[in-house]
Amino acid sequence: MSTTINTMLVEKRVIHPPAEFSAQARISSMEQYQALCEEAEQNLEEFWRNMAESGLEWRKPFTKVLDDSNAPFYTWFEDGELNVSENCLDIHLKNGNADKTALIFEADDGSVETVTYRQLHARVCRIANGIRALGYGKGDRAILYLPMSIEAIAMMQACARLGLTHSVVFGGFSARSLHQRIVDVGARLVLTADAQMRGGRQIPLKAAVDEALAYEGGDVVEKVVVYQRTGADINWEEGRDVPLSELETGQSEECEPVAVEAEHPLFVLYTSGSTGKPKGVQHASAGYLLWAKQTAQWVFDARPEDVFWCTADIGWVTGHSYITYGSLAAGLTQIVFEGIPTYPHAGRFWEMIQRHGVTIFYTAPTAIRSLIKASEQSPEHHPSRYDLSSLRLLGSVGEPINPEAWMWYYENVGGSRCPIVDTWWQTETGGHILTPLPGATPLKPGSCTLPLPGIDAAVVDEAGNELPPGAGGLLVIRRPWPAMIRAVWGDENRYRSSYFPDELRGMYMAGDNAQRDEDGYFWILGRTDDVLSVSGHRLGGTEIESALVAHELVAEAAVVGRPDATTGEAIVAFVMLKQAAPSAEEAQKVAETLRNWVASQVGPIAKPKDIRFGNNLPKTRSGKIMRRLLRLVAEGREIDQDTSTLENPDVLKQFSGVY
Ligand code: PRX
Repeated sequence: MSTTINTMLVEKRVIHPPAEFSAQARISSMEQYQALCEEAEQNLEEFWRNMAESGLEWRKPFTKVLDDSNAPFYTWFEDGELNVSENCLDIHLKNGNADKTALIFEADDGSVETVTYRQLHARVCRIANGIRALGYGKGDRAILYLPMSIEAIAMMQACARLGLTHSVVFGGFSARSLHQRIVDVGARLVLTADAQMRGGRQIPLKAAVDEALAYEGGDVVEKVVVYQRTGADINWEEGRDVPLSELETGQSEECEPVAVEAEHPLFVLYTSGSTGKPKGVQHASAGYLLWAKQTAQWVFDARPEDVFWCTADIGWVTGHSYITYGSLAAGLTQIVFEGIPTYPHAGRFWEMIQRHGVTIFYTAPTAIRSLIKASEQSPEHHPSRYDLSSLRLLGSVGEPINPEAWMWYYENVGGSRCPIVDTWWQTETGGHILTPLPGATPLKPGSCTLPLPGIDAAVVDEAGNELPPGAGGLLVIRRPWPAMIRAVWGDENRYRSSYFPDELRGMYMAGDNAQRDEDGYFWILGRTDDVLSVSGHRLGGTEIESALVAHELVAEAAVVGRPDATTGEAIVAFVMLKQAAPSAEEAQKVAETLRNWVASQVGPIAKPKDIRFGNNLPKTRSGKIMRRLLRLVAEGREIDQDTSTLENPDVLKQFSGVY
């Protein structure tokens, strides 16, 4: 069980939404928020019915809202039919917004390309027609391995238009990880690019696809569509590889959206859990889109004139919900950025906000913390050097934001004028769950505040009993919601055991520890499992361990996170080699070899920061690795915990060298 924090001591400050913000907001007071919560509580199905009827365009209206007869496998709006892409694009062509800017793409090198909703619609239709001409349609799965680009968003939308289920793999994952996902989801089609540009460097993508398809089972893929982003020299496999430009040539700019059942899987997104194998989180079409759109409207308080910038990559759920789907459905104008926050200088984000007149900025605490540091080192890139007066709302996502970073963001980026929405959610929840409503909720720096209307969140003990304020416990959601995960792709048991353990009697278990304060506000304390959050990226400790032990030099490995001032958590690997622990010189070399190995197996984002070597790992008498002790060692703390169950107490001393 987690440790608790004294929320009274952490932050007493309460920041109220500015009156001028509230005056214009969609939800402008706590009374309005509470009324919505009550409406949902009194008649949950009616609440969601109204939202789904007014929020989405249906091809076939639904009659049934929720089917819980096969809980925890829930279905929503089951007999209805719609098309997600139609709800993101065509609706704006019909409502007079065809010539509104949909996407403003800024490349790594600073060049800018803009598309209107009409143009994006045309592009999506051409690509969809091209994919259809290759012989793909509803029921097929496509893997996307792409850089941030208009093309990537258009390809996701094209899949949705045809009823293809997509699975986007973040460009920072290796060929091995890509292969694992291709095989697991059974993709017959891969959509990729020759390379991507990040921080002035060209990073190959197509080469990783070639490698992935050469591994066992990779031949399930019949076609690879390649967006030529950089013009890099790549291998072309005759009969398999198709340039995107060729795919689009001669295709019509109209493509009738394919109506799909509400529960049709829109996408599968792999995420780390507590085993070595990533979970394919499967989302439905209607329920997911409904919540992505509704939360974009509520939480970002979307207005027609807004310029919205979510800095996430489309390889993560944030990019799915608040770049490709929810924010397009809400008709926002959005920034899409290919590069990184520190290239060509640490003021890149602020410069872009100024250049494009961004009004809503949504980023991760890790980016904020690294920019705080960078602006201390080079004051010329401090946000105060830029005109950020266009901003009206700020957001944070992916990990807890510490109160200091929160205040810096609030004062220096938001000019003490913009509310901050600290949004807690997960790949599995599809959209925001715990978050302030910017025109209503009084803010407490470091707290993601309160559940959205319709969401029944609580903190419970391991037997499912609700805990009082101030007690740390498991974060759960007690009633289903439309955007929730529907399945772990191909693994019914894992869905049940990961999210609906018997002890919690049907509650959804998030895998986070949390506590509430005396006002009912939620404070996230961290994960309950071995999932790490590094620079806002969710990585499985066990996945990295599996990669390490697959190396010929390694006998055993344990991976834990240690707090890091910039990246949130840093990966620390404890390694026992097959041969005796190496000398300091050797250790340096072996550590480098193992880092590169992990990069090749999982991806560069999973490289351990510290590697420590020993002749054994601390284990209980029953042979279980004691990760809690390793966490203390990783942090350089005294072992003040009980080590009486430890089989081999001396082993801890061996891990003093950090490589
Ligand atoms: O631990 C929580 C943390 O990120 C986890 C979900 O990661 P992922 O599925 O990759 O989705 C990230 C983007 C939604 C959660 O279990 N997390 C996410 N947002 C917050 C957070 N922790 C604290 N505060 C947040 N706002």
